Amino acid sequence: MKEAFQPLFQPLTLANGSTLKNRFVLAPLTHTISNEDGTVSDREVAYMDSRTKGIGLGITAASYTNVEGQAFPGQPSISKDEDIEGLRRIAETIKANGAKAVVQIHHGGVKSLPNLVPNGDVKGPSEVDTLGFFNKEPHHARAMTGDEIQQAIKDFGHATSLAIQAGFDGVEIHGANHYLIHQFFSPYYNRREDMWGEPLRFPMAVVDEVVRVVDEEGPEDFIIGYRFSPEEAESPGITMSRTKCLVDALIEKPLDYLHVSLGDIHSVTREGEYQGEKRISLLLDWIDNRMPLIGVGSIYSGQDVLDAHATGAPLLALGRGLLFDPALVEKIESGREEEIIDYFDPEREDKHQLPEELWQAFAAGHYPSPKKH
Ligand SMILES: Cc1cc2nc3c(=O)[nH]c(=O)nc-3n(C[C@H](O)[C@H](O)[C@H](O)COP(=O)(O)O)c2cc1C
Repeated sequence: MKEAFQPLFQPLTLANGSTLKNRFVLAPLTHTISNEDGTVSDREVAYMDSRTKGIGLGITAASYTNVEGQAFPGQPSISKDEDIEGLRRIAETIKANGAKAVVQIHHGGVKSLPNLVPNGDVKGPSEVDTLGFFNKEPHHARAMTGDEIQQAIKDFGHATSLAIQAGFDGVEIHGANHYLIHQFFSPYYNRREDMWGEPLRFPMAVVDEVVRVVDEEGPEDFIIGYRFSPEEAESPGITMSRTKCLVDALIEKPLDYLHVSLGDIHSVTREGEYQGEKRISLLLDWIDNRMPLIGVGSIYSGQDVLDAHATGAPLLALGRGLLFDPALVEKIESGREEEIIDYFDPEREDKHQLPEELWQAFAAGHYPSPKKH
């Protein structure tokens, strides 16, 4: 390995005492290839095996905590006892590759899909017409009742219990990308006038419930992470100033890491007080080494890894990079970073060894991707 990469192969011990063997993380990636009932498919196990080589922490695709919150076709479920056996296969597969296995727990809220949830009843913090996964036409979502909100919180706890039973090393609370927890934090999606209209109330209630279950049922070194989106395009939307309040609140919780969701790790603040400042630098400043932060976004090549490391983020997640080249980390480790496939080749279905559905999604341009250069 080239010397410059060595710091990335240093282990990192989390607050709970568990140690990640290096600084590379598989970003949570929705693959749409679970069975129709949300149980794990054989293809999914093989795919997760291929994408967790060489990394320190592997995060699964967003997995629904209640079918009422299913937001993707072929989405994994972590909502019922029948899911445990398949989830155990995923956890074992990731761990056999030497990585810690974390399942991302998720509820789609208003972004859940009418054709996938019972009775087409889509709901979230407030009534809204909105677009779901790959849809061109908006669907309608209604406001949740207080009881439904309490149930959604309990569902995150129940999913955590199932994750423990399935042998995962941890859970990541999916508070990003416009899904339920994000929606409660967003002034665009949350227009409630009851106590749930307070932006931090729902996210913190979910964190507390997950922590409670881990305290009661989990091993001492069970990992709890939280993912958030620092800004959103909607107006009025989540701003960096609002995110600072979230970070301040999350820091007080017994979490093991924070995980920002960014399309480009070097991206800058869109608007407001911090306009033009690098988001990752602001976050690292605010966190001030009190908790590890996972940085992410457009890290494809060896040079990208070094540039991302230079931001100061202690952990780096790779999403599309590991989809285009599952051997990305191993190539760096063996000094072959020049051989990394750091683009999507729409003419070479065999090149990236992607499941058919993901291949099609990239070929159709549903996800942005660097082209061959
Ligand atoms: C195919 C695909 C599926 C994704 N699924 C999820 C998901 O399930 N949960 C999540 O938090 N983010 C998801 N994301 C966002 C990624 O985790 C990541 O933040 C984003 O792709 C930027 O990182 P990258 O440039 O390394 O791909 C997805 C992204 C892609 C491309």
